[in-house]
Amino acid sequence: MSAAPTKVDASSTTPFDVERIRSDFPILSSTVNGSPLVYLDNAATSQKPQVVIDSIREYYETTNANIHRGVHRLSVQATDAYEKARRTLQRFIGAERAEELIFVRGATEGINLVAQAWGRSTLTEDDEVLITCLEHHSNIVPWQLLCEQTGATLVVAPINDDGEILVDEFQTHLSENTKIVALAHVSNALGTINPVKELIALAHKAGAKVLIDGAQAAPHMTIDVQDLGCDFYAFTGHKMLGPTGIGILWGRHELLEAMSPYQGGGEMIRSVSFEKTTYNDIPHKFEAGTPNIVGAIGLGVAADYLLAIGLDRIATYEHELLTYGTERLLSIPGLSLIGTAQSKASILSFVMEGADAYSIGTMLDEMGMAVRTGHHCAEPVMARFGVDGTVRASLALYNTREEIDALVEGLIKVRRIFDLSE
Ligand code: ALA
Repeated sequence: MSAAPTKVDASSTTPFDVERIRSDFPILSSTVNGSPLVYLDNAATSQKPQVVIDSIREYYETTNANIHRGVHRLSVQATDAYEKARRTLQRFIGAERAEELIFVRGATEGINLVAQAWGRSTLTEDDEVLITCLEHHSNIVPWQLLCEQTGATLVVAPINDDGEILVDEFQTHLSENTKIVALAHVSNALGTINPVKELIALAHKAGAKVLIDGAQAAPHMTIDVQDLGCDFYAFTGHKMLGPTGIGILWGRHELLEAMSPYQGGGEMIRSVSFEKTTYNDIPHKFEAGTPNIVGAIGLGVAADYLLAIGLDRIATYEHELLTYGTERLLSIPGLSLIGTAQSKASILSFVMEGADAYSIGTMLDEMGMAVRTGHHCAEPVMARFGVDGTVRASLALYNTREEIDALVEGLIKVRRIFDLSE
């Protein structure tokens, strides 16, 4: 199976060669509506480098078989490739043990798994689940379901007008009843990078477990679950250059060991009889049925690709782009950024007086630009800012200053179409 990419250069002394990186992504040289594609919807999903695309084709051409089941050569090769991907992702998040990583469909499934397999047998009606105002629906609704099932209460910590969690307020929302805190590492709608290490320590002091939704962090920064000190960390493959339908739930070994299975089926069992079924070891206990084998392999290749470039270098490059983009967007009359935290990842969410988000998105699409418009699956945070939705330009390692210039020119054209003053 494909190894690490050959094109990128991991040396921190070499300049960040964005053109070279762009050449790894075939779709970036395409056109949309007659204009070069300017892809600024990376928080929704990222584009895929050739090595990831090749790994998927190569798997089906050379290796395809079911895993953990056959003694035949292809099955052994497929199992090896799948488990190798798990070890790559272990390295990607600094986990102590590979079996602490469970392949899931994405962060959403990872969060639901914890809510059901840990929460349902742990929480009672006296307990509380603490989330924050800036969560994605996938880190709200699974906890609401859990609260409905157990009688526990959902508590929400507030944010300030810049979109930052108020640490003092967060602390006052913790109590001896808080059994779990679930919070985003990076807000998908605002870009805020939460001070998760500090918040995890506060939650632990109160006796709560902590789940971090890392869907928007994984493509943009180094993650070290041991350094963070959390109990669970969930992230999604397709936002970090990998295929769709695959992601990781990492959990502390002892917690995963103690948890009941999430789903029943093949592979998650040790033995089955009608009288009694015993369960497999972790991670297999949580991977019922034939998993997304090729997805896991593609995600391993994507993680290798990011590691080869260096997540710290990516974070530095994207931060420069964010600073440039922030300055340029704020030069447009009537434009306001929603989400102005001190510590931000590469997300530019904005509204423009006199033009609605949907129309702006449609007009930008006519010019070849992809942005997301609407509530970004984070309706409560939109309500907090008193808007129905925003336009969101979300940047990745392959975006350029020229693309930000194109966005700004596009928005100036939109203003002209809406007949708004210069
Ligand atoms: N969670 C994805 C987004 O923020 C879909 O766009």
